[in-house]
Amino acid sequence: MSRLTVAQLVDLSGQVAIVTGAGNGIGQGIALRLGEAGATIIVMDIDFPAARRTADAIVAAGGKAQAMLADASSTDDARKVCETVLEHYGRLDILINNAGIYSAISLLEMTPEDWDKLHDLDLRGLFFFSQAAARVMIKASNGGRIVHIASLASIHPVNGMPHYDSAKAGVNVLAKSMALALADHKILVNAIIPGTIVTPGIEALAAEKGVGPDQYLFDICGGEQRFPLHRCGRPDDIARATLFLVSGLADYVSGTTTVVDGGYLLT
Ligand SMILES: NC(=O)c1ccc[n+]([C@@H]2O[C@H](COP(=O)([O-])OP(=O)(O)OC[C@H]3O[C@@H](n4cnc5c(N)ncnc54)[C@H](O)[C@@H]3O)[C@@H](O)[C@H]2O)c1
Repeated sequence: MSRLTVAQLVDLSGQVAIVTGAGNGIGQGIALRLGEAGATIIVMDIDFPAARRTADAIVAAGGKAQAMLADASSTDDARKVCETVLEHYGRLDILINNAGIYSAISLLEMTPEDWDKLHDLDLRGLFFFSQAAARVMIKASNGGRIVHIASLASIHPVNGMPHYDSAKAGVNVLAKSMALALADHKILVNAIIPGTIVTPGIEALAAEKGVGPDQYLFDICGGEQRFPLHRCGRPDDIARATLFLVSGLADYVSGTTTVVDGGYLLT
């Protein structure tokens, strides 16, 4: 194996990446970093103006991006997005399964509709998007990288989110089973387990409680003393770990779950 420089290892020039739910929050942070590393980013979201804002920011920074309107919980949309990317760009190298929803609903009040709505995107949608992407990656014969954005809730449940805890635990296992199933095609699959990250989704939940997003996260996670770094995370904290997993730095990393939580699990 030739010895590449660090700059070459993180250079994604010529590669094409889809980031789902990249109009805001963690997905946006990931799209910006992968775009900065040289990949062409398909900024996919159900909120098209938000997707366009992220794509515009990537282009303004000198990168390449295309905004795409699609629903990551729809198997039809997943197939169409992946096939369109193959048609237009001739390849698909990276899929970041970031789109996800979360809501606080107590165990005793949860309805089958609440459960299905979340699982349809966070687990079922993620599986079928990965399947559609893998089929296209295999056709393009360049191998590939798939990164699932899971959650700390998958290994450290949040009281009041049993549907979310269970969907994200499924995501961790899918990273492993997909890594095994796709290894022969040189497609590496991993999951990132973010801790508490300030994003528009969290800001909306915090606003309902009338507190700021950091305080909201401290409150639902046992208080600021549980945070060894005395801060919540930001989307770029997750973007940097994602860049590692899709870069040449991680050529021998597959089937893993990487916790990015500022040490929260230690306390
Ligand atoms: N913020 C956190 O603290 C945190 C912690 C752990 C894991 N996560 C996970 O990170 C991911 C992103 O979370 P966030 O906090 O950035 O969310 P967010 O709500 O701030 O942003 C999510 C984005 O996804 C889009 N989206 C929603 N449903 C979609 C769909 N069906 N198809 C396509 N796009 C869709 C939204 O329009 C939005 O742009 C989620 O999977 C979430 O579970 C977040």
